Amino acid sequence: MSTPAPAASTAPSAPAPTLRVAPSILSADFGSLADAVTRVTPGTDWLHVDVMDGHFVPNLTIGPPVVSSLRAHSDLFFDTHLMITDPARYLEPFRDAGADGCTVHVEVGETAGLIAQMRDLGLRVGLAANPDTPFEALAPFLDQVDLVLCMTVFPGFGGQSFIADVLPKIARVRAAADRDGLSLDVEVDGGIDERTVVEAVRAGANVFVAGSAVFNRDDPLAAVEGILSAASGASDERAGAPS
Ligand code: DX5
Ligand code: ZN
Repeated sequence: MSTPAPAASTAPSAPAPTLRVAPSILSADFGSLADAVTRVTPGTDWLHVDVMDGHFVPNLTIGPPVVSSLRAHSDLFFDTHLMITDPARYLEPFRDAGADGCTVHVEVGETAGLIAQMRDLGLRVGLAANPDTPFEALAPFLDQVDLVLCMTVFPGFGGQSFIADVLPKIARVRAAADRDGLSLDVEVDGGIDERTVVEAVRAGANVFVAGSAVFNRDDPLAAVEGILSAASGASDERAGAPS
């Protein structure tokens, strides 16, 4: 749980954020989801669950019953990305189904109320922004959330190309978190692979969603490990670079 941010001038430095890959099951075989999750489990502690309602995005995916079924097969942290127009209606069902964290989109509005609802439900709190949504839409909420998700594709489908124009926004989120001593996960989602993850790390991201670069490979576990290794190398460089 995050605590209220202290004033910037007295902000302590937050611990270095943990690097992790969150495999997105959107690109897994929906006919054998539990097997897909089991294959990547040795390489991570998070699983990214993409929920689409056919309204906020032009695609339909999964709902609470699938999360509930998967919960029986996995102890991973379920990082549940709600690409839906009316998250208030579904937060409790997803929590009850076994979601650990939920991320709502700032574009749907009512953000303060949704954050409060997620806290009340005991969920870890995430806030997402589409590629063309500016930093300023996220800024008022940075001290109230645990995770900011910067989309590097327009949400709705896996397998799209990474939009590098989002990198300056990621850097601004990380800079604001550092300035205010916030322990904030900065997650990047869309087009992440061993190459683009390096750019995301250099900008300040620490959680890397990867769907097609994991589940479209013959060895999904090796793919997760490869992305994490590339991220770790870039993170070491970033830590050693003059600020
Ligand atoms: C897209 C989803 C992503 C998707 C990423 O709307 O939010 O999580 O699974 O897929 P890749 O990694 O293939 O871009
Ligand atoms: Zn996602």
